[in-house]
Amino acid sequence: MSGISNRAMVVMAAVLCSALVGGGCGQEKEAAAPTEIAKPSPGPTTAPAAAPTKSSDAARAEAQQIFATRCTPCHGATGGGDGPASSGLTPPPRNFHDKAWQSAVTDDHIEQIIQYGGAAVGKSPAMPSNPDLMSKPEVVAALREYVRSLGK
Ligand code: HEC
Repeated sequence: MSGISNRAMVVMAAVLCSALVGGGCGQEKEAAAPTEIAKPSPGPTTAPAAAPTKSSDAARAEAQQIFATRCTPCHGATGGGDGPASSGLTPPPRNFHDKAWQSAVTDDHIEQIIQYGGAAVGKSPAMPSNPDLMSKPEVVAALREYVRSLGK
C-alpha cells in the first residue's frame, strides 16, 4: 500500500462506497458524514473526534431541566451542595461554587461522574449515575458547562 496517499485512499473508499451501497454511504441527511468524503480538503483532515463536545441551545435547555429535576435535590437549587436530600450524606454533595474544587477537576472528570456515578470514579456512591445520558454527549457537555458556570 505504500505510495498511495491518504487522499487517494479516501477517494477510493468513496468510489467503493457508492459502488457497493449504491449511492452515498448514508450521506443523504447526515450533516457530519459528507465532510470526510466529499470535501476536497488540502491534505488529510484530522478527525473532529478530538475536539471537545460543544452543546447546542437544545442540549443546554435539556441540561437545565435535568439539573433542576435530578441534581438540585442533592446539590441545591443554586448548586451550593445544600439540597433537601443532602442532609445525612457523607461526604456531602459537592458545592459547585467552590473555586478550589472547580480548578482541581477536569471537564472530563465532571462528564464521567455525571454519566457513570460517583462509585465509578472513586467518589461517593451516593452520587448517582445517569445511564440515559450516555447516548447524549451534548447534554452531558451542557451539564458540565452549567456546573462550571456555577463556579464563576
Ligand atoms: C442523591 C444525591 C445526588 C444527586 C441526585 C446528584 N448528586 Fe452529584 N454528588 C452527590 C454527592 C454525595 C457527591 C460527592 C461525592 C464525593 O465527594 O465523593 C456528588 C458529587 C458531584 C460532583 C463532583 C465530583 C467530584 O469529583 O467532586 C459533580 C460534578 C456532580 N455531583 C454532579 C451532579 C449532577 C450534574 C447531578 C444531576 C445530574 C448530580 N450530581 C446529582 C450526590 C448527588
